[in-house]
Amino acid sequence: MAVVVITGSSSGFGLQAALAFARNGDTVVATMRDTSRSAALRDAAQSEELAVHIVSLDVTDPGSFSQFAAGTVAEFGAIDVLVNNAGILHPGAFEDLTESRFRQVMETNFFGPMLLSKAVLPQMRAQGSGHIIMMSSLSGIAGLPGDVAYTGSKFALEGASEALRHEVDRWNIRLSLIQAGMYSTQIFPDKDEDVLPEGYPEDSPYRILVETKLRGIYESLKGAFDPAEVGSLMVEIAASDGSQLRWPADAVAATVLQKMFAQDDAERDAFLRGVSGTEWWSEGGEAPADGAAE
Ligand SMILES: NC(=O)c1ccc[n+]([C@@H]2O[C@H](COP(=O)([O-])OP(=O)(O)OC[C@H]3O[C@@H](n4cnc5c(N)ncnc54)[C@H](OP(=O)(O)O)[C@@H]3O)[C@@H](O)[C@H]2O)c1
Repeated sequence: MAVVVITGSSSGFGLQAALAFARNGDTVVATMRDTSRSAALRDAAQSEELAVHIVSLDVTDPGSFSQFAAGTVAEFGAIDVLVNNAGILHPGAFEDLTESRFRQVMETNFFGPMLLSKAVLPQMRAQGSGHIIMMSSLSGIAGLPGDVAYTGSKFALEGASEALRHEVDRWNIRLSLIQAGMYSTQIFPDKDEDVLPEGYPEDSPYRILVETKLRGIYESLKGAFDPAEVGSLMVEIAASDGSQLRWPADAVAATVLQKMFAQDDAERDAFLRGVSGTEWWSEGGEAPADGAAE
């Protein structure tokens, strides 16, 4: 059974993923930035008599990643699956977003997953196998107003993951991205009347846009999909052969993906490797003698 590391396991998809992998019989290293928030996961695991190992990890602290990876391998013998799930959302118009908030979103949603993957990849290469699952979003394939930072972070994650996939496939390391629609998790804090984030600028020319958009989101959360299904999907992805890059989590995501991408993943891979002349690398072969792409 696999050793599975999950980030952001205190709530939402991360918590559900920890339970789903534990039900599957895997060794689950459920990380969270604040282990005092582990009660929900501990209680849920205990009620099903599942074992999960709760470990402290803040994805905005890259200085801790190498030690975390080495400690995990020392204790559990491998890292077979890394689920980069932790993420934050600061809704609002771009002009209303402070630079520090903008950077915080990029640190958490983009640099965190990429740098943690970087810390884990040497172990996966040594194993000759591994699977990195990135929690993306529909905001990773389509841009809409009121979410510029979040959208930028998820687009960056999508692009970097697609490129990284071609670098590491020769070691049997897989990369997958999940696009999810709308799920009622703690990323959307409970709101009564005022849906805007606390302290949203009163005089913002975008206030009505952001407010209307958030009202629509909170309305649609009432009929939202079940986050447990995303946990189960992650188990399915980890067991897959890795040929599929993008995994829609639900019917809405599937429709948007279908509209945004004309080619399926296999056609897209073949096309991209062809135009970049890197098939030899992905196939585990030697570089062309003259160094030029064929
Ligand atoms: N819910 C949706 O509709 C939806 C749709 C598409 C994609 N997503 C993505 O799904 C992922 C999980 O979100 P969710 O919906 O499950 O929301 P959630 O319930 O708020 O879970 C987010 C998790 O990330 C953790 N986290 C935040 N900053 C962190 C940091 N610096 N280091 C470590 N952990 C950190 C949170 O920890 P704390 O408990 O300490 O805050 C929490 O456990 C995110 O990447 C999100 O972008 C969500």
